[in-house]
Amino acid sequence: EKAGFDHFMLKEIHEQPKAYRDTMMGRIGADGKSVTLSKEIGMTTEQIRGISRVHIVACGTAFHAGLVGKTVIESLARIPVETDVASEYRYRSPIITPDTLVIVVSQSGETADTLAALREAKRNGARVLAITNVVGSSVARDADDVITTWAGPEIAVASTKAYSSQLIAFYLLGLYLAQERGTIEQAQVAEIVEAMHRLPDQVESILEQAELYKGVAEAVSKHDNLFFIGRGLDFAVAQEGSLKLKEISYIHSEAYAAGELKHGTLALIEDGIPVIALVTQEDLYEKTLSNIKEVKARGAHVLGIANAGYEDEVAKSVDETFSIPRTLPLLTPALSVVPLQLLSYHASLARGNDVDKPRNLAKSVTVE
Ligand code: F6R
Repeated sequence: EKAGFDHFMLKEIHEQPKAYRDTMMGRIGADGKSVTLSKEIGMTTEQIRGISRVHIVACGTAFHAGLVGKTVIESLARIPVETDVASEYRYRSPIITPDTLVIVVSQSGETADTLAALREAKRNGARVLAITNVVGSSVARDADDVITTWAGPEIAVASTKAYSSQLIAFYLLGLYLAQERGTIEQAQVAEIVEAMHRLPDQVESILEQAELYKGVAEAVSKHDNLFFIGRGLDFAVAQEGSLKLKEISYIHSEAYAAGELKHGTLALIEDGIPVIALVTQEDLYEKTLSNIKEVKARGAHVLGIANAGYEDEVAKSVDETFSIPRTLPLLTPALSVVPLQLLSYHASLARGNDVDKPRNLAKSVTVE
């Protein structure tokens, strides 16, 4: 049932190209220039134009997908978005109006915190859209509209393909909302869609080099503390990378917005500490590189994850560089998360942990 892989997690990491294709299937117009979610979303164009704000609510890894979703929806559809952790959202009296679209994201569709937030949103009159991997789950049943991620069953406790398929769902949703609201040109939709179609093969090419991450994971596994840094979408992915590492390797790590380090955390950077730096956002290259220099100057051992074409520049400032194929900046999370998944997987193995069943965690958390 593990199809020749040692663990479900590794199998599921390798299933991502298929998960991307399946999640896109039937949702992109035959001309390749438009996105169709009219089967999933029952809102009229008028209703979509009337949305004044979006709240994305989820837990854990799904919350991290929601952080990417915020940037996607804001930049394409120009609607203000807030992303919240479900267990916080419910109790902070969020401002929910009938023209608020609440998007709940849940792999299992059974997470109690997320379900409670969904019900709170509905009580306040909001329309609720669910992004979930389980057809017929509680979240799917209670939501007004549902986008199913077709990642297939996820068995490993640590979420991999479900997260990355949630990203694909957000790209589709952002494009669809943008089309309906008239905030995007058809040529731009076509450009993004074309780049999305290339993602599965690009993930495949990262997976072909999966063994690259073994050695570095073994080195990382000898440390008790490390940092992930990045700016913009790289920061969102850094947070997911950090959670993945913590949950299965039990190594303490923190994800930092690269520009925020100098406001306190640099005190923790000492000789030899690993820092994993994501450098995939073109507009932020220079800024991130200057933050990398700050940690290097204090003795950090920096592993850089960079876009193909820019890796030589990054290599000048870091100790080891891993390159990922080039795509549009908005889409890079769907690629840059893959090396981080592999790194966590190998670090967990190197520490002799039960990769698929980490301590103290359940696949679906049905208590608040
Ligand atoms: C992390 C992980 C958890 C879940 C979280 C939400 O790998 O598995 O953080 O992402 O418990 O679960 P769902 O998405 O099922 O609501």
